[in-house]
Amino acid sequence: MEKSLLAHFIVLAQPKIIVEVGVYRAITTLLILDFLKLNAIDAQVVGFDMPETCEQLLKENEEVRRWSEEGRLRLIGGELPLSLERWVEEEKPVVDLVLLDARHDYPSVGWELKLLWPRLAPRGYILGHDYAEEFDGVRYAFDHFAARVGAHLMPLVSRWPTAEHGRDSVLVAMRRRAYQKTFGHWLGHRWEGWKADLVRGKWSGPLWRKMLKPLMRRS
Ligand SMILES: C[S@@+](CC[C@H](N)C(=O)[O-])C[C@H]1O[C@@H](n2cnc3c(N)ncnc32)[C@H](O)[C@@H]1O
Repeated sequence: MEKSLLAHFIVLAQPKIIVEVGVYRAITTLLILDFLKLNAIDAQVVGFDMPETCEQLLKENEEVRRWSEEGRLRLIGGELPLSLERWVEEEKPVVDLVLLDARHDYPSVGWELKLLWPRLAPRGYILGHDYAEEFDGVRYAFDHFAARVGAHLMPLVSRWPTAEHGRDSVLVAMRRRAYQKTFGHWLGHRWEGWKADLVRGKWSGPLWRKMLKPLMRRS
């Protein structure tokens, strides 16, 4: 389920740069890279993890080494969020898709969001893993940050019985507002709403039909 959701977000974001915060054994990283190749999407994956994890991956995982040599994968080793902060400050990247999946506490996820949100492309998405009860810090960080910056937040959470292995999702997606609200739009919609309430209301409806409407027709 999560892999399929991730694939859809890649297509939606039309990425040039994908950031994975927390790579571990590069299972998701390699899946993303294979999907990019299959769909002829010319994007680079930038992965962050501890220096020893990155070194070990490059030493022991042939596919990781090959993608790195081809320039499609860049592993940045260092303690988060400092490594991320350095990269953002030095390269001022525009990122199209982010997967946050390193430390699962509020301060860590909050910092990562604070660093990456200003760098997010207009149609980009930040996905978070483990938006679940067991990781309330992740949930709190996304909820709190989205409310603060006025972002759209969509939990993509679905729990299946344990026997249905592979169908769960504990992802969350966040993006910039798809459009800007103006006072004029707000007023127009509210005015339409008030009129509809008046016409359909239990008491105001009959009053409208029997008295107000004929009165307005006459004038
Ligand atoms: C849950 S795993 C990532 C799984 C991976 N995204 C996947 O889908 O397979 C979390 C990773 O975050 C890394 N990590 C956690 N805290 C970190 C920190 N402070 N600095 C750098 N890496 C960290 C860990 O080393 C670990 O490899």
